[in-house]
Amino acid sequence: MFKLTRSDLFREAAYVGGQWSTGNSDAYMEIRNPATGEVVGRVPSLSREEVREAILLADHAFQDFRRWTGKARGAVLRKWAALMLENKDDLAQIMTAEQGKPLAEARGEIDYAASFLDWFGEEAKRVYGETIPAPRDNQRITVIRQPVGVCAAITPWNFPSGMVTRKVAPAIASGCTVLLKPAPQTPFSALALCVLAEEAGLPKGVLSVLTGDAVEIGGEIIRSETVRKLSFTGSTPVGKKLMAECAGTVKKVSLELGGNAPFIVFDDADVESAVQGAIASKFRNAGQTCVCANRFFVQHGIYDAFVNKLTEVVKGMRMGRGTEEGVTLGPLIDSNAFSKVSRLVDEARSKGATVLTGGTQHPAGAQFFAPTVVTDVTNDMTIANEEIFGPVVSITRFSDEQEAVALANSTRYGLAAYFYTSDLNRSVRISEALDFGIVGINEGAVSTEVAPFGGFKESGFGKEGSKHGIDEYSERKYICLGNVR
Ligand code: SIN
Repeated sequence: MFKLTRSDLFREAAYVGGQWSTGNSDAYMEIRNPATGEVVGRVPSLSREEVREAILLADHAFQDFRRWTGKARGAVLRKWAALMLENKDDLAQIMTAEQGKPLAEARGEIDYAASFLDWFGEEAKRVYGETIPAPRDNQRITVIRQPVGVCAAITPWNFPSGMVTRKVAPAIASGCTVLLKPAPQTPFSALALCVLAEEAGLPKGVLSVLTGDAVEIGGEIIRSETVRKLSFTGSTPVGKKLMAECAGTVKKVSLELGGNAPFIVFDDADVESAVQGAIASKFRNAGQTCVCANRFFVQHGIYDAFVNKLTEVVKGMRMGRGTEEGVTLGPLIDSNAFSKVSRLVDEARSKGATVLTGGTQHPAGAQFFAPTVVTDVTNDMTIANEEIFGPVVSITRFSDEQEAVALANSTRYGLAAYFYTSDLNRSVRISEALDFGIVGINEGAVSTEVAPFGGFKESGFGKEGSKHGIDEYSERKYICLGNVR
């Protein structure tokens, strides 16, 4: 399956309180390579008792870790980042085996994931408080920031390393301990990161990776009064359910949920650059990201030029196993994902949309959906309203700015939006009018550790990355010193 320089990075075990655990029972989960269907390996399905034990160990570790200086926590994070980069090829191979993305893209994700460790390694030294002028002359008011406590992170399969470090790094920088529940499809990347975290000097119990059934593990975590925070990346329906359940113990919650990103091309856009941005945004991870362009709106005057050029590029894309040289598009994660994408394209076609290329399974394998361009999409088609999560460009024509903004905003989601124009005034007008947490102007690749990532509306709340990322894992405590003489 893969040949690692460091075979110890591949662990078929959970990581609980700093110990590798094969679980108390024979229950396990099998992980399959989405490109081939082959078994990559298996991990234990932890029992409820084991999850409760992990929570106790995380709480125990927190009592000590909260007293570490930011500088010391930051040093561990930065060393961990360096170890990730040193072992990039091995980590990328593990990721490609379980997730399917091409190796070059997996290596890019390791860089992206390490950048969060590095960034928050620096930010750990800057969790500043404030002093506030008091209303009485014998008082002094200060505000300090303290770690939230034991946190839980539930991460998705589309970025098996990046979404882990984007949550774990700010938590650790703040002095929290973390119980991580990786997606059942992709636990091995998270487990490999634990090997390196240990080497970087992360104390036992600060990070645990709990493998197994999402409902069992999630249930224990959510009911626990010890766990004070939940950060979740995944679908909007699951996010809503978790949010409601967290009310029981009034946990702090942050949610990075679904998107339905518009990608608007105005008549005055540069066609080459718009096509490049469209490819970067739409086809990253075979269209399986929350910030992927989902609905293309193209103005009349540039429509033919944009569609023709884009279709030509899409026809030339190479799809296949992520380990093959030159491949830029991998499979969908599982058969459910494949069925959903097929259903959306078939329904659009039956309602009058035109499929210019693709639209069917690709010869590379059962879970490969050919890169596709669909035009004449209208708002009554499901493809215009649901997150596609596949390599399908869905295009609608528009005539003026007002119509474009109305179409773009006509969704319950509000994560990312993109538009292309060469008019400076329009770029200001449109960026302010779009109801989305992230806006790319003449740019299709917006994700970075230095900027706040997060959505509006039903795409969730809470920011990840940037200096604001720390806010999600720290509490402000107001201290009033009275009777000062
Ligand atoms: C996501 O799809 O959830 C994250 C994408 C990113 O970080 O760019």
